[in-house]
Amino acid sequence: MEPFRFHLFVCTQQKPEGVPSCPTSGSWAVLEGLDREVQRRGLSRDIQLTTCGCMGLCDEGPVMVVYPEGVWYRRVQSSDVSEIVDAHLLNDKPVNRLVWNDAPAMRAMSIEHGEKFRAAMTAREKAGTLPDRLDQMIHGYMPSRCILTALELDIFTAIGEGANAEQIGTRIHAHARAAETLLNALVALGLVTKSGGIYSNTRESARFFVHDSKDNHRNGLLHTANIWHRWSTLTDAVRHGTCIPIDRGSTPEWTANFIAGMDRNAKARAPLLVQALGTAGVRRILDLGGGSGAYSIAFAKTSPDVRCDILDIPEVVPLTTEYVSKAGISAQISLRSGDMLTDDLGSGYDIIMLNAICHMFSEEQNQQLFRHARQALAPNGRLVVQDFILNSDKTGPLHAALFSLNMLVATNHGASYNETEYSGWMKNAGFADISRISLPGPSDLIVGLAK
Ligand SMILES: C[S@@+](CC[C@H](N)C(=O)[O-])C[C@H]1O[C@@H](n2cnc3c(N)ncnc32)[C@H](O)[C@@H]1O
Ligand code: FES
Repeated sequence: MEPFRFHLFVCTQQKPEGVPSCPTSGSWAVLEGLDREVQRRGLSRDIQLTTCGCMGLCDEGPVMVVYPEGVWYRRVQSSDVSEIVDAHLLNDKPVNRLVWNDAPAMRAMSIEHGEKFRAAMTAREKAGTLPDRLDQMIHGYMPSRCILTALELDIFTAIGEGANAEQIGTRIHAHARAAETLLNALVALGLVTKSGGIYSNTRESARFFVHDSKDNHRNGLLHTANIWHRWSTLTDAVRHGTCIPIDRGSTPEWTANFIAGMDRNAKARAPLLVQALGTAGVRRILDLGGGSGAYSIAFAKTSPDVRCDILDIPEVVPLTTEYVSKAGISAQISLRSGDMLTDDLGSGYDIIMLNAICHMFSEEQNQQLFRHARQALAPNGRLVVQDFILNSDKTGPLHAALFSLNMLVATNHGASYNETEYSGWMKNAGFADISRISLPGPSDLIVGLAK
């Protein structure tokens, strides 16, 4: 029995460039269009939309199958979506001009495709060709560098409502031919469109990369562009076991971009953290290395009785002050400039937060920090660590494993750690009832109670 009235499978099989495939003929746009229409018409409880792999009919893509009847559609375009929803999904009348029901021809095409595919795979295997997966990983830096350079040059803002290469090149003070080459690559990456020599931002680029856009991520992403230079030292850092000094020190602009990057992430995660910890009995919070103060701001907003102290380094505190003042919550938040590893942390806190902090420090530094935090907590107060937590043999999750290298190239002793390490340090520092709380996204909480 089918759990849904209709179950739609849309092929989204990615294939190497130049090989015909449903995505290159527009299957993602069809899928998005279907999803939008299904939501808009309140049909999401009756209709299941699923992506699927190659059905061997790639020259006729985008291919889509509608079950339980098993109606096959070919060459579907996003402009066909509302007709399919109206006729087929709402009135049980398939759109005949797109239906493909020549079963013998479909079968023959699919079998031929399968045989060709297997022959190509065998030939590649014999020739010792580098697998696509490895090739993509190895060349992954090219798209990444392209976007980061575009952000550094603020090219998306320069595109504005649409402009030619010469105009854009002049606006970003760049070499005309080189700017055009970069713009063409951005078109190939699907971040910009080009029509009649005029470049325009896609909806995504306009939303996330353009100066005045509400969701502009550029400042935060410029921190990633800064970190790029550190990653170039990875080979030497692995040889020497620590970060390698580079010329590009942390200027005020570097620090502002870093905190902006932290803020983007922290603002999204702060409600999750507040909800996971709860606010019952919470009056005094210490936010160590609070950055933009996003977590303290979220806690302070839960009740006028909550007071937060944020401790950060002198270069960051003026930025924190701005963020807190913009949030209109300055009366509940005090800022302290200092060093969390050596300063007296105070006393009587209900919660001490270490959000994205422990990965900057060595094992010994974290142990010492946990001991100091234990002394600064009130009875039954909680130490909360939020970080990318590795599995027991430290081989994943991928983000945490890569982030550990990020710390190798960027800090003297930092790394990602696993749950056993965090719990052990908490236990040694005198914490009880140590638990891990999973949050959606890449970082989790480890919480210990000061009994
Ligand atoms: C990765 S950021 C995390 C910021 C914030 N907790 C968040 O999650 O958005 C690390 C923060 O710790 C601060 N920091 C680094 N070393 C510190 C130290 N020794 N004492 C106080 N703050 C420090 C940095 O300035 C920065 O704001
Ligand atoms: S890629 Fe869609 S059928 Fe082959």
